[in-house]
This record gives sequence, C-alpha cells and structure tokens, in this order.
Amino acid sequence: MASRIPDASLVTPAPPGALAARFLAWYDRHRRHLPWRMAPGTPSDPYRVWVSEVMLQQVRVETVARHYAPFLERWPTVEALAAAPLEEVLRGWSGLGRYARAHNLHACARLLVERHEGRLPEDEAALRALPGVGPYTAAAIRAIAFGRGDALPPVDGNVERVVARLFALGWEPGTPDTRRRAELRRFAASLAPDGRPGDHAQAIMDLGATVCVPRRPRCGACPVQDACAARALGVADTLVLGPKRAPRPKRYATAFWVSRPEDGAVLLRRRPMKGPLGGTLEPPSTEWRPRRAWRAAEAISAGALPFAADWRRLPGRVRHALSSYEVEFAVMTAADVPRALDTMDGAVWVGREHLEGEALSSLARKLVRHALAATRPRAIRHRRRA
Ligand code: ADE
Repeated sequence: MASRIPDASLVTPAPPGALAARFLAWYDRHRRHLPWRMAPGTPSDPYRVWVSEVMLQQVRVETVARHYAPFLERWPTVEALAAAPLEEVLRGWSGLGRYARAHNLHACARLLVERHEGRLPEDEAALRALPGVGPYTAAAIRAIAFGRGDALPPVDGNVERVVARLFALGWEPGTPDTRRRAELRRFAASLAPDGRPGDHAQAIMDLGATVCVPRRPRCGACPVQDACAARALGVADTLVLGPKRAPRPKRYATAFWVSRPEDGAVLLRRRPMKGPLGGTLEPPSTEWRPRRAWRAAEAISAGALPFAADWRRLPGRVRHALSSYEVEFAVMTAADVPRALDTMDGAVWVGREHLEGEALSSLARKLVRHALAATRPRAIRHRRRA
C-alpha cells in the first residue's frame, strides 16, 4: 500500500466528489486552449484524440501543438493515414522524435481499417491490443474521446504530481516504479467525477502543468488548495516523487559528416525500418561502444563508411541522452569526397534546404547542427574604412 507521509493522516482530504466539481469548474475557466481539444463537454473525434495522445507521449505540449495541425491536415482520417506510405508518415513526424510511435500509429491505422472498419474501439482490452496503445493512452482515449469513466483514469506525470501532493503520498526508497504508478492510479481514480471524465482528466493534467508545477507550486491559484495534504503539512515544495533514476551507461561513437562539394548536399543513411529509430535518417556512424574509439580506420574496417579519405576530426563533441544510454559522438569530416558513394547501404544525399523536413531523430539533428556550425566558414570581418 502507498504510504502517506508521516503525519499525513492528520489531514483529511475533502470528499472526492466535492473535489471533482472544483476541478471541472477550474478547467472551464483556466484550461489550456490546445489544438486537439474541443470545447468543454463536447465529444471529440476519436481519431483526433488518438493522434494527439500518441504525439503527447513524453513530448512537451508546446512541441505537439506546433506539429498537430499540419499532420491532421495532411492525414485527416484514419483511412488517409492508413493509405500513406510509411516513409511519408515518418517525414510528417519530423520534429516529434521517438519515431517508433509513428511506426505504431501507421501500423495501427492499417489495422483499424482492415479489422475495425476504420474506427477506434471503445473497449479497453481492444484498445490495449492495438500497436502503441498502452494503459495510459487507452485510458486517455476512453475518457476524452468516448466519455468513459468506468475504468482507471489516465495518469501522466502531471497527474501523478497533483495526486501525490493532494494525498501527501510517499514511498520507501527502492519501491518499484510499477507499484508506485499503480497506487497513484488508484488514488487518482478516487477523485473521479460523475460526468465529463475527459474534461476531468485534462483538468488535472493542466493543473499539474500550470499550477501544481514540480518546483515552487502556485498553491494560491489551486482550486483544491484547502484540501491538499502536502500543503497542510508544509511539504508541497519538497515532496519527492519516487527515487531518482540511476545514471544511464555511456556509449561512444564516431559520426561522419560528408558534404558534396558541388551543391552542399549531405550524406545520410536510412536506418533499417525495424529496430531502434527505424526508418530515420542520420549521418553515418560507427557502432556505439562502451569505450572511446575514434579512429576513422576502425570505422571503415567495420563497414560504417564505404571510403577511405583524409578524415579530420571536428572540434567539440555531441552528447545526447536516450532512454537507455547516454551517447557521446566525435564527428569527422573529409575534404575529398569520392563520386561513387552509391555502394553504401541505405545512403541518400539530402539537400541542406530539405534537412528540416526529413525524418531525422533528435540525435541526428544534434549531429547535423554540430557539424554545420563546426564547418561554417568564418564570418568575414569587414573593416570599416576610416
Ligand atoms: N498530455 C497527455 N495528454 C494530454 C492532454 N489531453 N492534454 C494535455 N496534456 C496532455
């Protein structure tokens, strides 16, 4: 059982029903106006909700808000998405990162058309059986698109924080994440309203994002401040949600920046469709290794590059945190580029003006930015004539 922190039992939260009405009233006045949202109380198109929830998985709301409308304009229905070639969908996903989600979205659209008459199912088990739909996304679709509040509510990081503070929840160090999450979901469910489950869920998400923020929560603006156990105990600022994550292991690699002299197009490699970052483009690079091994000869013999050249190391390094590793890249470039590079598996030349719209992972974008900055001709200083 989740422990309420010491002395929390001295604070009795208000009855959940009363709190639910306050969350909804707050949402009606203070909700964020986001492109995938309908007016409060209005049913939403399940396709639009599904796409938004997949885009929002671990991505900032502001980022999704920029990419959502163009994606929906291009693929306004599940049928349109199912009919699109995967490569185009990956390109349309550019800027949202974590491309496995785009693969799943596309596979799911095809499956919906083939087996569900192009409609998202309402049933929780049927939703969970779809590619890329986990417990959170299924709960969000059910609540927001179908107005179903008869199962556990969607609980994201913002909701977890609100609930943990409201009930002053704490866990022993070493408590598994899955247990902590399950318990938070049960406490969140105890707040469920009689109606409008989608608005209720989004009210708590918005409260967590704008008022009950991680550091220095704005308790004075909170509609349930008088019922908040963490506030009553004076620990709203310091309540820590779960153990800190262990540092990620480090990996090292070398990336190769190859630019065609005649037009500046850049050599990129498409990763295999199956596997991590499948189908995305990136500068060719060596395998990630536990130790630094930044020698071009080694990369060439390992098949990472098809040609020998006078490689030179660009200054600086590129560091990037992924979910399982922290990777550090050295970047090398060659002045003399052989004409016949077509032998390289999955290699494509991409004009610099097209880089922005192509399906590059955030790591690949970082490498490109780094190489562009490091190879930019120095600004010519004009001396003023006296
Ligand atoms: N994060 C995930 N789903 C969300 C939603 N519907 N509104 C705001 N933030 C979210």
